[in-house]
Amino acid sequence: MSTTGWGNFWKDQRQSFYAVMKMATGYFVSKFDKLYPLQPTDELFDYGCGPGFVADSLAGKNVQLTGADINDFFISACRKKHPTARFLLITTDVAANKKILAEALNRKQFDYILLLSIIQYFKSANDLDEVIDMLRSYLKPTGKLIIADVLDDNTSSMKDAYSLLMHCIKKGRIGAFVGFISYLLFSDYRKISKENKLLLVSEPTIRAIATRLQLQCEKVNGLTLQKSRSNYILSHAPVK
Ligand SMILES: C[S@@+](CC[C@H](N)C(=O)[O-])C[C@H]1O[C@@H](n2cnc3c(N)ncnc32)[C@H](O)[C@@H]1O
Repeated sequence: MSTTGWGNFWKDQRQSFYAVMKMATGYFVSKFDKLYPLQPTDELFDYGCGPGFVADSLAGKNVQLTGADINDFFISACRKKHPTARFLLITTDVAANKKILAEALNRKQFDYILLLSIIQYFKSANDLDEVIDMLRSYLKPTGKLIIADVLDDNTSSMKDAYSLLMHCIKKGRIGAFVGFISYLLFSDYRKISKENKLLLVSEPTIRAIATRLQLQCEKVNGLTLQKSRSNYILSHAPVK
């Protein structure tokens, strides 16, 4: 995987749109926990963990958590906030990440692997294929790989902004919404997104990747706050 403008952007991020990201991640975790009630024995790998909002949302659950991200500032913050969890600094290069994970995880397998709000920053669907190919060996035979908050041709920024606004109003967090919109309009994010379009990945593309890698694929609605995004659960095909 080559380093894109987005990879470079995220590596250097410090605050970005924290308030809204935290809210959206908390929403995802509550829906995810309803779909798959998490147990203290569950092992979860949050790939592209950012500042650790999944870990924050799961703090009371005693789930065994491993996170990985390309941003060393986020990883240091995660390590400080969650000293009992494990956080790995990775890169935008899959070949390098294969080595990092092989060394750090030593064939460990997880009940759940999350790719939450990260694949839109990949350069191409081929990068996603490579990442899933790498991660599937870390999935238990009964494990689930969740690809959530996926943008595709049906994604509408107006609809997403509306669902976000409604949630912020419901939670009395209108300031978070205003902060998010100002961030989108006035930060480097705007400049980067003009030069590097967010990656859209269609359902047939995700299904084709799953088929090639001998994984089952199920589309699941309603896991994320932004209603026009898609979510997929990949799992090992049963042995015949
Ligand atoms: C919008 S944030 C989402 C963070 C977290 N998953 C959440 O939902 O709270 C996107 C994250 O993806 C990470 N990221 C971007 N490109 C990546 C890549 N190629 N490999 C792994 N992580 C990446 C960024 O560093 C950032 O932390």
